[in-house]
Amino acid sequence: MGYREQRLTKLRQAMKAEGVDALLIASPTNRRYISGFTGSSGYAVVTERNAWLFTDFRYVTQAGEQAAGFDIVEHGASALATIGDTLRAAGAASLGFEQQHLSYGAYLAYGKDIGSGIRLVPTDGLVERLRRIKDESELAVLREAVAIADKAFEHILTVLKPGLRERDVALELEMFMRRLGAKGSSFDIIVASGERSALPHGVASDRIIGADEFVKMDFGALYDGYCSDLTRTVVIGKPTPKHREIYDIVLEAQLATLAGLRAGMTGSEGDALARNVIASRGYGERFGHGTGHAVGMDIHESPRLSKTESSTLEPGMVVTVEPGIYLPGFGGVRIEDIVVVTENGCDVLTKSKKDFITL
Ligand code: GLY
Ligand code: MN
Ligand code: MN
Repeated sequence: MGYREQRLTKLRQAMKAEGVDALLIASPTNRRYISGFTGSSGYAVVTERNAWLFTDFRYVTQAGEQAAGFDIVEHGASALATIGDTLRAAGAASLGFEQQHLSYGAYLAYGKDIGSGIRLVPTDGLVERLRRIKDESELAVLREAVAIADKAFEHILTVLKPGLRERDVALELEMFMRRLGAKGSSFDIIVASGERSALPHGVASDRIIGADEFVKMDFGALYDGYCSDLTRTVVIGKPTPKHREIYDIVLEAQLATLAGLRAGMTGSEGDALARNVIASRGYGERFGHGTGHAVGMDIHESPRLSKTESSTLEPGMVVTVEPGIYLPGFGGVRIEDIVVVTENGCDVLTKSKKDFITL
């Protein structure tokens, strides 16, 4: 069975458990995961026996090429009216929809357009739950996405110098990743220098990078539908003992997490691997975010490595490990890798070096 058939089989099991005859998948990411269709408009609808991809005139040919195993239907002025007619003909009485992805306005319109005899039923994360465990085809793409970010980091080390604007460093990273085949950045690139490096999510600004300060860079490639996520912090010029001190603590916390993380732990136990190191050095208050998050087609997925995450890590989950320390008025450090959780530990996909780098 191919990967896509396996996903459909698992989805049908989940639908059965949920008690819905059909599922409407409208979120672009979930739709792509289930059907392979990458167009900007369309609905995958799955029943026990059928899998349809409803789209409009612009995408019919593309859908036929991408959504193997799906019947392609060109919908009329109202997609939901066409879907309603199709489901009534197939004898479906209930249609699950993705409650996290539907606006209230769209919900009201669905109810009107779908027509009589079909009950709309909210469902929560049926496809997202499948996406938590990455299959081999996904891991291969994620490895590529990570490799592109690794190469961009190596490149940017040859470019970074005082006098550059943060924004220009971000542009250089993005152009480099796109030349290597990325569709774009997987999120707004963070380049935060000097005091700005204390902003955990300091998106690149007009600030000119100075001498003797941190530059924290957090970026990733969007490649073939999957996201990578990489953070490195370097010092431009001469570091002070404080730069060195907090860098070493974050690195120790990051390495301790990579060494300890494994399937069977909860997300909060994974988080504690980093948090305990940082807290024991007196900087617990300055590490105010989670240790990591799952990553895949979306940059932030479940589960998280956070104080409150109760779900258990399983083999095949892909998560970031990204502790940090942020000192307002001075600067901050984060070090972030991507790993695949395994039975006995984790495989680190990220290859970029993380010893204390001064340029
Ligand atoms: N850049 C977003 C994150 O690391 O989570
Ligand atoms: Mn990141
Ligand atoms: Mn991240």
